[in-house]
This record gives sequence, C-alpha cells and structure tokens, in this order.
Amino acid sequence: MQISFSTASSGKSDSIVVGVFKDRVLSKSAEQTDKASDGALTRALASSYFKGEEGEILGVPGLPTNRVVLLGLGDKDKLSEADLTTLGGKLATYLRATPDKAAEVLLDDLKGKDISQAEAAAFIAAGIQLKSWRFDKYRTKEPADKKPKLTSVVMVTSKADEAKKAFEPLNCAAEGVFFTREVVSEPANIIYPESLAQRASELKSLGVHVEVLGEKKMHELGMGALLGVGQGSSKESQLVVLEWRGGDKDTAPVAFVGKGVTFDTGGISIKPAGGMEDMKWDMTGAGTIMGLMKTLALRKAKVNVVGVLGLVENMPGGNAQRPGDVVKSMSGQTIEVLNTDAEGRLVLADALWYTQDRFKPKFIIDLATLTGAIIIALGHEYAGLFSNNDELANRLIETGDTMDEKLCRLPLHKNYDRDIDSDIADVRNTQQTARAAGSITAAQFLQRFVNDYPWAHLDICGTIWAYKDYPLSEKGATGYGVRLLDRLVANYYETK
Ligand code: BES
Ligand code: MN
Ligand code: ZN
Repeated sequence: MQISFSTASSGKSDSIVVGVFKDRVLSKSAEQTDKASDGALTRALASSYFKGEEGEILGVPGLPTNRVVLLGLGDKDKLSEADLTTLGGKLATYLRATPDKAAEVLLDDLKGKDISQAEAAAFIAAGIQLKSWRFDKYRTKEPADKKPKLTSVVMVTSKADEAKKAFEPLNCAAEGVFFTREVVSEPANIIYPESLAQRASELKSLGVHVEVLGEKKMHELGMGALLGVGQGSSKESQLVVLEWRGGDKDTAPVAFVGKGVTFDTGGISIKPAGGMEDMKWDMTGAGTIMGLMKTLALRKAKVNVVGVLGLVENMPGGNAQRPGDVVKSMSGQTIEVLNTDAEGRLVLADALWYTQDRFKPKFIIDLATLTGAIIIALGHEYAGLFSNNDELANRLIETGDTMDEKLCRLPLHKNYDRDIDSDIADVRNTQQTARAAGSITAAQFLQRFVNDYPWAHLDICGTIWAYKDYPLSEKGATGYGVRLLDRLVANYYETK
C-alpha cells in the first residue's frame, strides 16, 4: 500500500474520507463537503444510525465526484495511539471491501490525547498500512470482486511533512510485521528449518549479519537438547544468528531468542489430529524476531541487536527421541525428556545458553509459542510475560500498552522448581502428571538456563494467530510482538 501525505486534497481519488465527532458534530472537511453537495451528508446522517462514535463508518455513494466516507472520531482529541491505529485499520477494512483503488483521508487538525496532529495522522496511516496485508499467494481462483483493490491512500493534513517523518519508522515496523506474517502463514512443507534459515538470510541485503549453524556445528557446541528435538525429522536442524550492528562498536547488544519449531507434531508424545495444522505456526517466536530485525535494519536503528533462532521440526519416526530419554544441554545440565511435546523449552535451553555465552548481552528476551496453557489463562488478548527483572518487565508492559500488544506478567518462584526436578537427571521437561500452572513451570524450566542477565520470556501462543478478522489484521498471522519490541528498543536502548 502506497501511503503519502499532502497538505491539500486533489479531489480526484475514488473515495474521500472525512471525520465526524460524537453526536454527529461534523469536522471542518465534513462540513465543507456537505455544503458542496447540497447537504448530502446531512441527509445521509438523518437516515442512518451513525452517531460519530469512534470507529463508526458510513459510506455515502452517489455524490457527483467521489464516494464520501464518514469516519466516526468520538470525543475530540481524546484518542490514544492504539485508538488511532485501530481507527486506521477499521477504515482500511471498510475501503478494502469497496471497488475503490485510491482514497484521501481529510484529517483537518485532528489530534489525540497528548498526541500531536502529525503523530495522529501517522498513527492512522500505520493502521491502514497494517491492515493492507493479506496472504493470498495460494488463492488461484479468487473472484476479482473478492480481492481488495485499494492501493494508494493520501493523508491530507496541514502538517504533512512532519506526519510523513513520524510515519517512516511506523512503516518500517509494518514491513517487519508483514515479513513475520508471511513466514508464519506459510505451511510446513514450504517452511522447514533450512528454508526458514534461507528466508532469514534475505536480511543480508539490508545489512544484517547472518550466520547459519547446522547440526555438525551444534554437536560440537554440545547442544544435545535442541538436537534431540530435531532428530526424528528428515530435515536438518539449524541455529540462525542475526546481528544488526547499528550502535557503538563496544556496547553489549540486546538479544532476542526465538523458538522456531517449523512443525510440532508432538513427536512420539504425538498430538491429537484435530487442530494439529495450527502447529505450522510453532516457529512464530523465530518469525517475530526476523520481522523485528527487518524493521530495525530498515530504519537503521542505532543499537546493537542479536537475534538467535532455534529451528527444528518435531516429528515422530524411527530415530525420534523417546519419552524418558536423557539429553545433555550446552549448559552441561542433563534433561529428562518426559514428554516429547514439551519441545520448545528444549530448543530454547540451548539457544538461550548459546546467546549468553557468546554475546554477554544487556538483556535477553525470548519469544515462544510455548504452552497451550497460556491461552487457557489469558485467551487471545494478552501474551504471558515472565521475567527475573522488574525494570525490563515494566518497560515491556508499558510499551505493549501503548500499542495494544499487551503483556500480562505471571510469576516465577523457586518452589515451582520442585515440579521439574528429575529423579534421574538435573531437570525434567514436564511435571509428572499435573497440568497445573503449565505456562509457569515451562518458564521456570527456561530460567534454569539463564544466568545473571536481565531476562524476559514471552509466551505468545494466544496472540500471534487470529481466528477471526481484527482491525489490524485478517484472520491468520497477526505479527504480534514486532511493533512492541521495535518500540521497546527505540524508547530505551538506542543512542539518540
Ligand atoms: N507448541 C506447543 C504449544 C501449543 C499447544 C500452543 C497447543 C497452542 C496449542 C508446545 O510445544 C506444546 O506442545 N506444549 C505442550 C506442553 C505440555 C506437553 C507440557 C502443551 O501446551 O500442551
Ligand atoms: Mn509441543
Ligand atoms: Zn511446540
């Protein structure tokens, strides 16, 4: 989607969008349009339920030149960043269901709550952009009238230059989100460890340093936990190391570690057939970091960042690991694998250790579709957050709140260690029987592989995939986390 900013309307697009505040108070542009059309908007309002509540939309076709779209703005100057972005998404949803190819959004001097006119325009534009992506490469027979046509939107505001500038980093984040959504949407016959590593390698063209370690190298490093998960698959496991060096040469990087299980059958502890297709998205932790690195590189972030992706396929088979197997992790700790379906934590155990060992980072954040239990606890609104560091945790929560990528912190406590102490090894990968606190015991397991670094674990199963359309994404991969982590880095870790 081509989004541009202009100080004046060309009056030539297929639709023009004008704002209406609560109780049908017309914005300046709405008023002018109404006058120029002999009160057509007033008449349309009179015969509809449209009240100007935030996010309401009323299309008025049949005017001499354009379709006019009334966009409800609610209370004047009260909208937050998340509200404005959502508003853009809702507008895009509406426009994409019409045959219109080009639209102009007349914003007048719209502001938000503590949000300038330029930022307000940029946030709405970001919402439009985020909603403009869909995964349709495999739909070969879709009728033309089902395909969205909208390809360009002009945001009209007297602060066009400033708004364009404010939009640039948001647009880079949208590009990152699209990259994440794409690799997450691809089925597991297309995305497997080597092909996902290949996709990650595309980031080289943006100046990201990419290294791919195969099984031989991982054996040498002693990554028995990660390798055990992949050993039942005919696909070779991979560890991808991404580095963006935009900061001062000698400053420690911030580090992101992603679970990249390209398909999770459960292994020998096999999952039931119903819904198993969802497990193509079990690589989303890794996919999110790929989108994040793309964003940071596109906007040339002044910070050093590493992303480490543990890529494996969890399959049953003659060579698969068995329940009860004991593996030795890179940390030296031995792990009793009671359930081969609790594989994500095995992958992360080695990826986390490798990351600390090699990079001595400022912090480590891992992202993983780790437990179904997090969906039971939090549904699809909040992702789970576990951390050994209040400052990092609070920064994540605050940043998430500003853009509606919300995090809910859950506890870690040494008493949960009793549930994962093994009878024959240092630790076991699941509790023996009880399903109690499944997300917490998983996080507690990860903590055994984290040394004295600020660390946060994000359990993202509930938020990375949508089972219905949302304002900012269609059904399917949401790209949750890319914008959140990009902003976290921008707000707290970049040199200005
Ligand atoms: N990738 C899954 C998490 C998952 C499962 C997400 C179902 C959404 C729906 C993870 O590898 C897994 O299988 N976790 C198990 C852990 C259990 C065996 C302790 C789970 O959540 O059932
Ligand atoms: Mn599993
Ligand atoms: Zn999994």
